Amino acid sequence: MTEVTDAVGPAGRPSGPAARYDELIQPRRVHGSLYTSPEIFADELQQIWYRTWVYVGHVSEIAEPNDYVRKSIGPQDVIMTRTADGEVHLLLNRCAHRGNLVCEADAGNSSSFRCPYHGWTYRNNGDMLGYPFHQGYGGRNKLELGLGRVPRVGVYQGFVFGSFAEDGPTLEQHLGEAKGEIDRLVRLAPEGEIELSAGFLKHRARANWKLLAENETDGYHPQFVHASIFSVAESGIGALYGEKSTAVTRALGNGHSENDLRPEFRRLGVPLGWFGTTEEKVPNYVKAMRDRHGDSGAEEVLIEGAPHVMIFPNLFIAEIQLFAIQPLAADLTVQHVTAVQFKGAPEMNKRMLQQCVGSVGPAGMLLADDTEMYERNQAGVAELRPEWLDVRRGVDREEIDERGLTIGGATDETGMRGFWSHYKHLMTEGRVR
Ligand code: FES
Ligand SMILES: [Fe+2]
Repeated sequence: MTEVTDAVGPAGRPSGPAARYDELIQPRRVHGSLYTSPEIFADELQQIWYRTWVYVGHVSEIAEPNDYVRKSIGPQDVIMTRTADGEVHLLLNRCAHRGNLVCEADAGNSSSFRCPYHGWTYRNNGDMLGYPFHQGYGGRNKLELGLGRVPRVGVYQGFVFGSFAEDGPTLEQHLGEAKGEIDRLVRLAPEGEIELSAGFLKHRARANWKLLAENETDGYHPQFVHASIFSVAESGIGALYGEKSTAVTRALGNGHSENDLRPEFRRLGVPLGWFGTTEEKVPNYVKAMRDRHGDSGAEEVLIEGAPHVMIFPNLFIAEIQLFAIQPLAADLTVQHVTAVQFKGAPEMNKRMLQQCVGSVGPAGMLLADDTEMYERNQAGVAELRPEWLDVRRGVDREEIDERGLTIGGATDETGMRGFWSHYKHLMTEGRVR
């Protein structure tokens, strides 16, 4: 299945790369080779991961001057730094001399990086500082070399994104309607900021990254895959993804999608019901929220809860957990997971951490089940027949909402179709048909 051209239309049709993706991605189905072909994976790195805006990290991870943390953009090892002037930089972890890794630690505080191989040093903005034994370079104490940089860095509400394209849509244009979902998360923090201070777990899945991205807002699977956690936790979450649910799946544009559970939470009208707790259990948090938003404002925020949004291509905010998807090969992906923490909400933060451990921790009951599905899916799509995956669920009952966005029922594949439409756009844009 790696030879894409064998799998599609007869000879005589246009056979450029754009035409190939036109064939492979159709309104109601997508071709299995999209998940298995190393050639397509290599193409995705160029057309998507090394071009569009990709989520990298959060400013709270480099709160102090000269803090740094190692992150990634797909397989690229990226150092996210904060220079003494407060500026955020995304540097590639590769020495300009002979290509050694210059940064070993996962995180730390330093104004410079020193390559262990021959001792070349760099400032934390990527500029060269110097190297030993100048005479070998004609006595010059500096060359016109430095660390590689991700050319565009954008920050929205503390979320740091990078783009390898020198120009193109701005981060704000890329995020578009998804900005409101980030805003919705941030407004749940009494001080209006979130922090990623809980540390990350890394879950490796032998599966293509798109299976994960598609699953994040798939409202069809929770009742089946997550039945066990819903029953032991006596959670009402399962019903949110039922046939009778008033929740909607929304394609937010640019490949972003969400499960908007607000209609259900509004119907129930219970503050903090989305989090499975009550106001009495977190009185200081509720007071802080009332002080910030006023009584009725706080009531609305606490009833509506946190977003469940997949931001193309790699940031998934699952209410109070954050996932960053890192593709490493056509059939290998790492999911970096952490608990969201609200600035100024110690009571909530403790609970959010506990929930995160219980659901996506090493012995957690939620992500382990999803991961089992990703890997079974990858094994299945490697089978030769049938060649296609079906994505038509709800296609004939979609509507356009008041914002002009496409919505479907709680269990419909509207989000996936939005993902594929943007994917196809990026894979074909400006290429020959
Ligand atoms: S490879 Fe870094 S100093 Fe030689
Ligand atoms: Fe799931």
